[in-house]
Amino acid sequence: MIIHLIAGARPNFMKIAPVLRAAAQHADRLTCRIVHTGQHYDRAMSEVFFEELGIPEPDFHLGCGGGSHAEQTAKIMVAYEKLCTEEKPDLVLVVGDVNSTLACAIVAKKLHVTVAHIEAGLRSGDREMPEEINRLVTDAISDLFFVTEPSGVEHLRREGKEDAAVHYVGHVMVDNVLFQRDRLLASPLVEGRSVELKKGHEAYGVVTMHRPSNVDEKAVFGGLARALREVSERLPLIFPAHPRTLGNMEKFGIDLGPHITVAEPLGYMDFLNLWKDAQLVLTDSGGLQEETTALGVPCLTMRENTERPVTVTEGTNVLVGTDPEAITAAATRILNGEVKAGRRPELWDGCAAERIIKILMER
Ligand code: UD1
Repeated sequence: MIIHLIAGARPNFMKIAPVLRAAAQHADRLTCRIVHTGQHYDRAMSEVFFEELGIPEPDFHLGCGGGSHAEQTAKIMVAYEKLCTEEKPDLVLVVGDVNSTLACAIVAKKLHVTVAHIEAGLRSGDREMPEEINRLVTDAISDLFFVTEPSGVEHLRREGKEDAAVHYVGHVMVDNVLFQRDRLLASPLVEGRSVELKKGHEAYGVVTMHRPSNVDEKAVFGGLARALREVSERLPLIFPAHPRTLGNMEKFGIDLGPHITVAEPLGYMDFLNLWKDAQLVLTDSGGLQEETTALGVPCLTMRENTERPVTVTEGTNVLVGTDPEAITAAATRILNGEVKAGRRPELWDGCAAERIIKILMER
């Protein structure tokens, strides 16, 4: 069976690594070909992940980075249609909720190729979020659904999916973070950006923020910056910033004060080495909400909703919203020792990719 494994943007790369490892155990029956759409193209947003996570060089590069949502999605669709027609894979495996996920799912389905979606069923309920549209459309046309948390199973049932197509398998992202955390424990980093950033900080917090709704408007970004500045007076913060965030920070003249260190995007291992030892993570990312729950690190999510509610009901995540006062109040509670206990949700055990491969082989 020939599988196309689609990856395009940073949050895809850590999800395909465990799938490739699991598939390699069955190389006699499965051939996984990596299709890199090129949605993310900077070295720090893409290449470095392939090197560090041990992902082989992609079999195909579509080179479709940049542009508006429509331009990006359309470029990927045109390029992937050509490839998919020529290669005729038996199955296309898409992960997550980025534009590459949507574009390749649509193309494959129209070419009558089976589509399987990893991380299916997540819903924020917020249709202003581009990822929510990607999730809804991808799930509307996929054939097989690999689900990470109970809410995903419920949503897919409500949307009329057959039980036989929906598989609660745990989370490939967690497979990856546990695997890489063990690697770091076995041989700690002794040099690199995270080692430098940690030097001189007894205790620190880590910030990531890149959602258009948080960083594209000056007033909203300014309010969040005020909250972060206030938190940083009690706990120094390290803020590796996405290219969009860095650009807007400069454009709006955002002042983060003297206790926040802004850094360029970090590679996976550097970033993990940083946040795994943080007192607190403040983020608007999807994946980091789950990774912090997997490793038991306190996380405050600066969004009004989350498509990953299990991180709140069972994990260490607290949904604080974007009101500056609420963010500082929640951070202060953690710094005063009121830390929420969390546990790893069911099947977040490092074996999700193996379950997925087993299901694919039994079809
Ligand atoms: C994408 C995903 C988002 C994910 C995020 C993580 C969608 C809809 N969104 O958002 O879910 O959380 O990636 O990183 O797919 N840019 C660079 N270099 C790069 C990539 C992007 O400079 O390697 C800049 C470009 O100016 C680009 C902009 O960032 O236009 C936005 O990139 P894009 O891929 O459109 O969306 P992200 O905001 O990265």
